[in-house]
Amino acid sequence: MIFLKSKRKDDDFLYFEIIRPIIENKEVQSMEQFAQHGGISCLDHSMYVSYTSYLICKRLGYDFHAAARGGLLHDFFLYDWHKSSEDRPGLHAFTHPGEALKNAEKHFELNPRERDIIVKHMWPVTLTLPKYREAFVVMAVDKYCAVMETLAFWQKKKLLAFRSLRAFV
Ligand SMILES: [Fe+2]
Ligand SMILES: [Fe+2]
Repeated sequence: MIFLKSKRKDDDFLYFEIIRPIIENKEVQSMEQFAQHGGISCLDHSMYVSYTSYLICKRLGYDFHAAARGGLLHDFFLYDWHKSSEDRPGLHAFTHPGEALKNAEKHFELNPRERDIIVKHMWPVTLTLPKYREAFVVMAVDKYCAVMETLAFWQKKKLLAFRSLRAFV
């Protein structure tokens, strides 16, 4: 599998185990059909954020389980945000964290850290400060990933790796 690099092998296997119950969910997989930034799907973006946040939190001794799970679900809003709809009043930037949390709670049991990660990831656009340090990590990583994707710095190799990871889990 392309994704596994020898130096991160243990990290990667643990990551697969943590996200397995989430990535196997059909609704989560349906994020693939929605574009996020620069032609990257919402699912690829969410995995990019989740995996990067997981690695950072693991190195820092933070709750990497919550970072991986919350990161994967942070944009679980399930619509094409580029198209407006009368069913969705309000600006996407303000409303989608709440929508993602609502969907996530429908399918998974979340702890307070995971809920905070999802609902506060747009700070400072949404005014309430994240409560947990893992939520700060995901909030910052989400912005970093969005910039990388929008400017097309996202490496094709990495994208293929995430696709093979999804096939693996
Ligand atoms: Fe978001
Ligand atoms: Fe995001």
